[in-house]
Amino acid sequence: MKLYSSIRLFLYIVVVLQLFSLCQCTKTSSKATMPTSVIRTHPYNEHHRPQIHFSPIEKWMNDPNGMVYYDGEYHLFYQYYPEDVVWGPMHWGHAVSTNLVDWQHLPIALYPDTNGYIFSGSAVIDWGNTSGFGSKNAPAMVAIFTYHNPQGEKAQTDTFQTQGIAYSTDRGRTWIIYEENPVLPNTGLRDFRDPKVFWHSQTQRWVMILAAGDLVKLYNSPNLKEWNHLSDFGTSEGDHGGVWECPDLFQLPVEGTDETRWIMIVSIGDGAPNRGSGTQYFVGQFDGTTFVNDNDPDTSLWIDHGTDNYAGVTWSDIPTTDGRHIFIGWMSNWQYAQHVPTISWRSAMTLPRTLHLHNTDIGLRLTSQIVDEVKARYTSSTPIQRDITTTPTYLPTSKEPTHTYALHIEVPLRTQTSEELTCYLSLSNDQDERLTFSYHLSSDTFTLDRSQAGDANFSEEYRAMCVQTAPRLSTSDTLQLDVIVDVSSVEIFTDSGLTVMTAVFFPSAPLSIPSLWVEGSDVLKGVTSQYSTLRPMSVF
Ligand code: FRU
Repeated sequence: MKLYSSIRLFLYIVVVLQLFSLCQCTKTSSKATMPTSVIRTHPYNEHHRPQIHFSPIEKWMNDPNGMVYYDGEYHLFYQYYPEDVVWGPMHWGHAVSTNLVDWQHLPIALYPDTNGYIFSGSAVIDWGNTSGFGSKNAPAMVAIFTYHNPQGEKAQTDTFQTQGIAYSTDRGRTWIIYEENPVLPNTGLRDFRDPKVFWHSQTQRWVMILAAGDLVKLYNSPNLKEWNHLSDFGTSEGDHGGVWECPDLFQLPVEGTDETRWIMIVSIGDGAPNRGSGTQYFVGQFDGTTFVNDNDPDTSLWIDHGTDNYAGVTWSDIPTTDGRHIFIGWMSNWQYAQHVPTISWRSAMTLPRTLHLHNTDIGLRLTSQIVDEVKARYTSSTPIQRDITTTPTYLPTSKEPTHTYALHIEVPLRTQTSEELTCYLSLSNDQDERLTFSYHLSSDTFTLDRSQAGDANFSEEYRAMCVQTAPRLSTSDTLQLDVIVDVSSVEIFTDSGLTVMTAVFFPSAPLSIPSLWVEGSDVLKGVTSQYSTLRPMSVF
């Protein structure tokens, strides 16, 4: 058995080395190939490796990029540095999935070139062949991204970030860089990046939203090559604790009505509700030229109140018959991302989530829900109703240790008599490590505490960001929690996704013991819980 493992390890090292040399010699070509057999040998079972979340085979990953659906495949590109586990010259890594859960890794799609590193951006299908890169029968997939020129940055020019495009006519397998890049030069803005592009049918134009320091800029184009400035939004709107990055703009129906609103997503590099980087959103109107915020400019709205959901945007070209707005974010935080204790790779994406717009007592608010494709991986389980006391109640019916599981919990609040009540959910192991999530009735707030959830020595910033709080935004009599634990992350959706908290943690053994208890009252009556394990993803 030992010999077998050593041989496996040896073979793995050999193929990884081959993979490396392959990446090296194809660096300047946009047509790199990586034999998929190389990838299939990867065990994907290292300490802390997620089993239902997308993570790169190895090395550094940050933002999700260019998410686009085409011909039965969800494409996920991502900020990738193939030579180290820290940030470096950015490439676009690439993977595809037919179900948003199982992922096939593909060769790196875009390499740095003479215009610079390939920073974040988006991809669209040019159905009308406006660019002339494909044809109406075989439309091109076009990537729109930021070039970051390191020489220009060093020379302190304020023009080192420009926008470029590339296209593929073979389902994203090979890419051709447009020879007249950049398509949108920089007129003197230090931060000028992360274009998200969509087709605006009313004006029959492509619209680009781009982050530029403390605001976003909107442009339009007939053909993805020539861009006209339309308007700016944001200098005195929302939060400005850090530079604005990775915007998105899309229309959502208001659930249960005939109305729609435009949602603008903007990530900020610092100053999120629990410190560090986070993602805010605005609800408003967009007429093809200008975005108008429906809310008071000081209103702060957050996609996720946890520390680990950044730079997320939505998929392009989801068929109208499906109609979902599917969001995915980078499950880390710039405060400590480069120090987390994973050895061969760094970071994962959040689970894909659908976004919905609801009328609530406090106005129109986004909710996030795990996509059905992930829910299809839950084992079937029966809900159990019981009274919770001050002694922890273990939630699963059998004590099979697992690291990837989901919980659905419903707590009736109306019948509770004590205003001082706090309801605790802890995820623990037998090494005395635990992550605790609690709801405090008197302040109507949640607290997520990962300070005892394993290794926290790797970063002072991480330690400073262990205790995270969030408001409850629902007034419902029943508190609902949907929790997904996957080895080294937890995603908590309260009240059908009105307040979301996503956090990473690094335990020495799986936090496989979920339990509930109450403080400030002797009993919490009629709590329903449902526990399911998840069938892990396949990686090709
Ligand atoms: C966000 C970000 C983007 C930029 C990319 C570089 O995390 O800073 O603004 O394009 O990362 O990797």
